[in-house]
Amino acid sequence: MSKPTTPAESAQLKDIVAHAKEYGFVFQSSEIYDGLAAVYDYGPNGVELKNNLKRLWWEAMTQLHGNVVGIDAAIFMEPRTWEASGHVAGFNDPLIDNLDSKKRYRADVLVEEKAAEYEKAGDPARGAALTAELGRLLTENDLAGVKQLIIDEKITCPISGTAKWTDVRQFNLMFSTQGSAVDSDAPPVYLRPETAQGIFVNFLNVQKSARMKIPFGIAQIGKAFRNEIVARQFIFRMREFEQMEMQFFVRPGTEGEWYDTWKAARRRFHEALGLPAEKLRFHDHDKLAHYAKAAVDIEFEFPFGFKEIEGIHSRSDFDLTQHQNLSRKKQQYFDNDLDPATGKPYGNYVPYVVETSVGADRLFLATICQAFQEETITEGEGEAQTTKQRTFLKLHPAVAPIKAAIFPLVRKDGMPEKAQEIFDSLRFDFRLVIEDKDAIGKRYTRQDLIGTPFCIVVDGQTLEDDTVTVRDRDTREQTRMPISALRGYIGEAVSFRRVFEKL
Ligand code: GAP
Repeated sequence: MSKPTTPAESAQLKDIVAHAKEYGFVFQSSEIYDGLAAVYDYGPNGVELKNNLKRLWWEAMTQLHGNVVGIDAAIFMEPRTWEASGHVAGFNDPLIDNLDSKKRYRADVLVEEKAAEYEKAGDPARGAALTAELGRLLTENDLAGVKQLIIDEKITCPISGTAKWTDVRQFNLMFSTQGSAVDSDAPPVYLRPETAQGIFVNFLNVQKSARMKIPFGIAQIGKAFRNEIVARQFIFRMREFEQMEMQFFVRPGTEGEWYDTWKAARRRFHEALGLPAEKLRFHDHDKLAHYAKAAVDIEFEFPFGFKEIEGIHSRSDFDLTQHQNLSRKKQQYFDNDLDPATGKPYGNYVPYVVETSVGADRLFLATICQAFQEETITEGEGEAQTTKQRTFLKLHPAVAPIKAAIFPLVRKDGMPEKAQEIFDSLRFDFRLVIEDKDAIGKRYTRQDLIGTPFCIVVDGQTLEDDTVTVRDRDTREQTRMPISALRGYIGEAVSFRRVFEKL
């Protein structure tokens, strides 16, 4: 159970949301019309950061593993896909309305928040008992029982303050739209709620065309859509979001080992990106999704508590078997490796699947929350000593939107031309920016705020000996070096290799 948010933690999230807007990372969607709830747009710096995170994940999957290949499946799928996957019948949240405020809530979230209150008030046993009871009722789909729990616990609406509740009912989270322009009776087409099914239905296409041998994986990055009832906490829970999923197809009986392998590998990925070990934890699911045999979340400690950023699921042969049954197309693999027990090939089977599924937006939020730093800097000595506050984004250089900013010290004496020369010589390698307005200190501040790891200053000495100073974002130290050394120096710091070597 996550701990309740303290005022200081909410203030920190507010600062991050404001920072993300002001410096071009994340904007509310259609803001000029007062926004659309739980939908967000990424700005010029945000899209670079997000693309870097996605590229890092993609290469970590498909380049570092010879047995993982990628696909890019469509968002729309034949509607029977979602019957087979269980989403039409089972992808629901229990919702409840307050009759006075007319506000809608997730019934399970109301109870979980009550349990968190008990924990905060020093009665964790009561909180745990309440969570366990909720788990039991949901597993038994006893919605009347969930309503009774809300009444017994005297849970009131935070807006109206009353306990006048409707019955609890299941609400399907899939968005649908009209699929056919000519047949108005045609079944609705869903906007996919997970990217995984695009992988399952292509299992044999990929296996045959890429000549993959089990064990192998199929990776995909793409949009997913869920009509979330509780849409809060900025980009943590969105209605339109992006997933980075990998389905790893294995021989039945080996799924336990692969589950452990991927669980450890995925945690290493987050640590290699700079999320500290003490802010990451595993959380085993108490209530398993309809497809899962075992499931664990990797949680990150956001300003609003430990919350899921990635799920690792052992999905057995559930999805492929369901698709096989509904489509009447065999989803089998012929394994000609020899079974040591019989000395014969393992033969035909429906593979088991271990899935890793991380939200690109949640990884983005975790990255920016971790990077957001405020520090007090002391400058000068004795009476001349001053202190000031500095805010900066301590992003891993590999994912920073801009890798280096080039500053001509003054806008004359050939310095702007030299800065342009450096820009032109490095632009094939790195995303750079030239900044020539304001005092150097202000320019450093602007780059700190968007997480640029290096600032290169072109000064009088540059014109004489082709050297520049390079200022490090984190230490604020300046090093003088030849222009010819910049490519190697920046390249080493920002390379994906530095992340990959830790995996
Ligand atoms: N295919 C399995 C699957 O979709 P999930 O736990 O429902 O599993 C996987 O989702 C990941 O997708 C989550 O760990 C989270 O990072 C991301 N995610 C899910 N719902 C989201 C939402 N409404 N907004 C943003 N990210 C979401």
